[in-house]
Amino acid sequence: MSRVAVMHGVNLDMLGNRDPEHYGDLTLAELERRIAAFAAELDLRPSFFHTNHEGEFVERLHALRMDADAAVLNPGAWTHYSWAIRDALELAEVPAVEVHLSAVDEREQWRRVSVLEGLVVDVVSGQGVDGYRRALEILAEKLGRGPEA
Ligand code: DQA
Repeated sequence: MSRVAVMHGVNLDMLGNRDPEHYGDLTLAELERRIAAFAAELDLRPSFFHTNHEGEFVERLHALRMDADAAVLNPGAWTHYSWAIRDALELAEVPAVEVHLSAVDEREQWRRVSVLEGLVVDVVSGQGVDGYRRALEILAEKLGRGPEA
């Protein structure tokens, strides 16, 4: 069974208190339960990680090559400026999909930039919790097709 690391970054632990118009009303724990159910349907084994500390996020990315076959990343605001996270993802050498609950391309200009551009297999944004299902589907397909895909 393929192992997928689902990583949430800065402020994602505040889901449930953040603007529901952008982020919905699920808490992070509820969101992760939904993601676990999506993963089970796709025969993927998820693991979950959240931190508000950039260095911890970087260190988790460093470990991915040892303990994951793929990753779903929502780094929160780090997405828009953390070159350290980009460099760490480059080292990870596992396929990753970037997910945003909100439609980052339709919000402030600064949210339209992603430091992960070109490194991730795909970006899913503006689909709320269903965006995570889409990300897992993309990775399941990619892993199913083998290393050349
Ligand atoms: C987010 C979008 C980011 O711009 C924001 O800073 C977040 C959450 C999202 O899931 O929509 O914290 O990544």
